[in-house]
Amino acid sequence: MLHSIFFDGQSAQYRNRFVRTDGFNAEREAGRALWGGLLERPEKSEREGWGARTALKDSSSTDVVIHRGRVATSFYQCGDVYELDPKTLEQLGKADWLAGVTPGWGVSAHTKVDEATDELLFFNYSKQAPYMHYGVVDGQGKLVHYIPIELPGPRLPHDMGFTDNYAVLHDFPFFWDPEALKHNAHAVRFRTDMPTRFGVVPRRGRPEDVRWFEAKPTYALHVINTYEDGDTIVMDGYAQKDPTHFSLVETGCHAYRWRMNLRTGEVTEGPLEEALSEFGMINPAHAGKPYRFSWAVTSPPKFFAMNGLVRLDAETGHRQEYPLPDGVFLSESPMAPRQGSTAEDDGYVVTFHYGC
Ligand SMILES: [Fe+2]
Repeated sequence: MLHSIFFDGQSAQYRNRFVRTDGFNAEREAGRALWGGLLERPEKSEREGWGARTALKDSSSTDVVIHRGRVATSFYQCGDVYELDPKTLEQLGKADWLAGVTPGWGVSAHTKVDEATDELLFFNYSKQAPYMHYGVVDGQGKLVHYIPIELPGPRLPHDMGFTDNYAVLHDFPFFWDPEALKHNAHAVRFRTDMPTRFGVVPRRGRPEDVRWFEAKPTYALHVINTYEDGDTIVMDGYAQKDPTHFSLVETGCHAYRWRMNLRTGEVTEGPLEEALSEFGMINPAHAGKPYRFSWAVTSPPKFFAMNGLVRLDAETGHRQEYPLPDGVFLSESPMAPRQGSTAEDDGYVVTFHYGC
């Protein structure tokens, strides 16, 4: 379900709408669930479905971006991209450009919008070789670039990075156990004996242009931002100390910086801070460009929930926290620049909060 708030002068208008995915419509017609849940075996599903795991409903609910003045929703396991009107939440159906994407693969959540070029960058992943693709949709909604990214096997990337000139794709050593996969079982393992790998490719590059950089084993759900610093690609995201846990606190996720030197091939890396945060948002005009501030969330132990805001100054390391009272939680909190603003942090942080 998509939730939308409009701020208009002194008032706020709220709307919500289910995204009418093919799966949603099929279950509505059948009057019952046709697909099993994420933690259930694929055999439980009555129909083929979507998702890199396969046999999932296309819950186009993981991620929401605005591209070409339209809301575009996507599913982290890969599915169809649905478009809606941002003001009315009128359903505009599936994105036309999906026609150019490999059938059955769909698109992963965390498509990236570059406000400077109006492009949308995306990736997908699958249990089938080449295990990943990367693509670009232009400001007219046309798929203008789509290339295979060869990985050593099925992986579970969740996000990607982009700079003015490059896209950065993820291969973390946290993926389905290949032996279990032979029995259609999806057991995720953390391979501390394998490196993290980042694939850096020019935004319109060919498959053979991908350059791989190796870093320490970890897993990161989300990228904060990526940018170029001379010959170096800087990617900030949330490295996890132990990705085998469900709650954010137990994963030990913290803001982290990888620097990939295009000239020497070397990676230098290290934490921006040790304290926990995740789901970082930035001023969207700085996406792919140098930036300083991020607005992220904190989490209570044992739950995958968000109980406070964090503002991190990546330049000084200064952290400012805004904790919520016990029992009150919030959502990922995007930063809306004030109209006419020039300073990076001049704007509003917008969140939904709820008590339970
Ligand atoms: Fe995510």
